[in-house]
This record gives sequence, C-alpha cells and structure tokens, in this order.
Amino acid sequence: MKNRNIDIDDLIEIVKKGGKVSTGIDVYNQNKILLLARDVMVTRVKALEIIKENGVKKVPLITGENSGIWDEKGKAIQIEGDKPKGLKELKSDFSPVHADAGIEKKLMEIEEIKKMAGENYKASKKCIRKAFDDTKASGGQFDHNEVSSHVKKLYDFLAATNNPFSYLSKEILSFDDYLYNHSINVCATATTVLNKFNDNFSAVINKHLNAENKKRGQNLVKKPDNNEQVNSYKCFLESELQDISLGFFLHDIGMVMVPEDIKNKSGKLTDQEYDTVKRHSKELGITIMEKNKLNNPFLMNTVKYHHAPIFEGEERCYPLDRIPADINLYVKICRLADIFDAMTSKRSYKEAGNQINVVTEVFRMYAKKDNLLQFILHSFISSIGIYPPGSIIFLRNGQMGYVLESSGPLVLPFTDTSGNTLKTKPDPIDISTPGIDSLFLVDMNRSVKKPLDVYDCLPSYLKPKTAA
Ligand SMILES: [Fe+2]
Ligand SMILES: [Fe+2]
Repeated sequence: MKNRNIDIDDLIEIVKKGGKVSTGIDVYNQNKILLLARDVMVTRVKALEIIKENGVKKVPLITGENSGIWDEKGKAIQIEGDKPKGLKELKSDFSPVHADAGIEKKLMEIEEIKKMAGENYKASKKCIRKAFDDTKASGGQFDHNEVSSHVKKLYDFLAATNNPFSYLSKEILSFDDYLYNHSINVCATATTVLNKFNDNFSAVINKHLNAENKKRGQNLVKKPDNNEQVNSYKCFLESELQDISLGFFLHDIGMVMVPEDIKNKSGKLTDQEYDTVKRHSKELGITIMEKNKLNNPFLMNTVKYHHAPIFEGEERCYPLDRIPADINLYVKICRLADIFDAMTSKRSYKEAGNQINVVTEVFRMYAKKDNLLQFILHSFISSIGIYPPGSIIFLRNGQMGYVLESSGPLVLPFTDTSGNTLKTKPDPIDISTPGIDSLFLVDMNRSVKKPLDVYDCLPSYLKPKTAA
C-alpha cells in the first residue's frame, strides 16, 4: 500500500468517464470537516466537486485491496508518481499546501525549543546533582556561587521562552532521579508563572496609578515612544526575580538529608516517617541555608514555607507559624508549581498524572479562595496552559492529537478515529475556530492513561528527540 496525493481534477476526469475511486483514507477540509470517508466508493462527479469546492486540490489516496482508482470497465488504474497512468496531463494550479509548510515550521520551532530545553535541562541536572551530592557528602556545604551563576543563566532562558520544559513531555519519559528533576521542574514552572504574574499584576497596578495621576494632573516616568509619561511600577525587580528563581531551584535542598529509605518508600509513610519528611523545609533546609550563609529572604522564605497553607484551612501543610495571608506570593507560586510537578511526575508508588487533569485539579483546589490567590492561579493557568504544548489530547471523534500551541489549542491529529497512527501528516486544527464541528472539540472525558501506549502511536515526526 502506498500513500499518494492525487489531483482532484484528475479524479473528476476519471469519474466523469464512468470510473470510480475509493481513497482508503478519510479526506478532510482545512477546518477538519470530514468530506469523504475512507471506505466510500465515489461514482458521482458531484461528490468530488464538493470536495474541490471545499478547497481540497489534492486528495490523499492509499491503493489497497479495497481502495484505489478504477476505469469505466472496472479495471484498476495504475498510478505513476501521483498521476493516474494513461490520463493526459492536466494543468494544475496546485501549489504545495501552505498548511503543511506551516506545520513543518511549527514542528521545527518546537524541535528547536526542545533542543534548547534539553540542553538547559541537562546543564541544570548536572548543577543540582553536584549541589545535592556535595551537600550530602559534606553534611550541608555546597558551592552556592556555582549554583547561583547557573540559575541566572537558566532564568534568562526561562524568561525568554514560555514554559520550555513542558516540551520535554515528561509524562512520556521515565523519571529515575526524582529530586533533581523535581527541583528543575519546579524552578521552571514557578519562574514562568512568577514572570507572568509580575507582568500582569504590575500592569494592573500601573493602570490604577496612572488613572489616579491623570485625575491629579501628575505623571511619573517618561515613556520612550511618545513622551507621554506613565508609571512603571514593577512588583518584583529583575534582580529579585533571579533570587526568587534560585529559591525555587533549591526549595527542597533539605530533602537531601532525609534518609533514602523514607524518600523512596513505595508504600504509605508512617506518621513518624512523615514527621521526618516534614523536617526538610523549616529545619533541615534552613540549616543548610545557614551553613552556607545564604540569608537572602527570598531563598529562606521559599525553603521554609513552600509547604505552608496558602489559604485558610488548607490541610496537611507545614509549618503553621504563618497565616496564609503572610505567606509571600512567590512562595505561594512555588507551592502550586511543587504540587503540579509532584502530580505530573512518575514515582515509585504512582504513575504520572495527565497534565490536563492536573491543571484542572489544581484549579479546583485553589480557585475562589482569595483575590491574590485567584490572580496567582490565573497566571499559573495561563503559563502552563490548559493544554501544554507537547501534550496529547483526545478529540471527541476518537482521534488523538498533539498540542502544538496552548492557545486555541492548536492541535495536530496523529491517529484516525480508531486510534491507528495516520500515515499522512494532516493539517492542524485550531479548536477555538468559531463554528467548528463539535466532533473536533477536545474530549474532556478521555485522557492519556498509559503514556507508553501513546508514545508507540506517535508518528516519527512527533517522537521526542531530546531526553530529560
Ligand atoms: Fe518540599
Ligand atoms: Fe518540592
């Protein structure tokens, strides 16, 4: 069986003469509306004209036992290249499908970001592994200047991209070294959320300040483009953001001192074991910070309070010496990122949770608690995206799709409705397109249960080429 793309005009010509065609593959228009089912035998020109009117100039076709092109005598027509044999050359105004070029470009972009993300991840892992190993070997000392200079570089990369490590599809790759990966993932997610929060929150404050100043006839800062003067309040300065990012990176450093048998226990922890784990933040983590003379409050607060309650009445949190209102907002962001990573990571006692379900779950847990948390949550959702790039979703028609962009989302289907990997690369679907057929919406009731099964279904052009 071979995949072809036949000019629609050639097919019309054949059917006009009494021939017939069965494509063996579903034919869609650019909006992913099914125009012709794979097993339908087309004997009427009208059916092909409708397909042509829908903008399809090349029809995908697989020649097989029950699919192909036949002449008016029922004899199978051979195909040379993409041209039915014996048919006179027809002038075609076909040019390469722009959408396909668009996908190639997008996939190349994703591949490029994946490559950069992979390199950054590798360097981060080397850095955190060394810091944690040194801490353990020395009883608390590590080269914090080295870590700090690495995190500055990592911060620049994270600030220039949007949640880049989501492209590494961690639900597909296995995690052996949870603590190293967790530290990097929390840093990446929390830094992205913090930057988003800083921009959004600062913009809201500036809007209010400027409105107030306008009323009073005062302005504060010069805007370079038109000399109009505006406020430029920033919730956090660049140097503060870098320090906070370092805190995210090191938030669990105290876990290094927790006995391995407790950390790797596959069953439920006893109360006593849980109490030992709880020491990793306020006690062990802070001791390590102090031993290294790291008394920056951004670091100290994050290490100490990243498991503290972030709304009134939140359970299973520690320490409890600060009320939620007094927990710094960057610590609250760290906590959300921490939960998100823990829930989406594979551990010795559980499978990795599906990212979409986890985002929904985090939203459900923390929505409508207080205004600031609502604002943080908004930044969290918009940073991660309900459908993170690189994640896999099901459409209501049963197809599986690869998320190219969170907004929309823009999805590239890669299986047919029965779950078989598509032989040809289809056009991406923007799920937010007004009036889109409901069959192409995301099926919220289905999620990827076995990541490895999905991995096996992925066409080669979507398989991750970078490993975390
Ligand atoms: Fe922790
Ligand atoms: Fe953590």
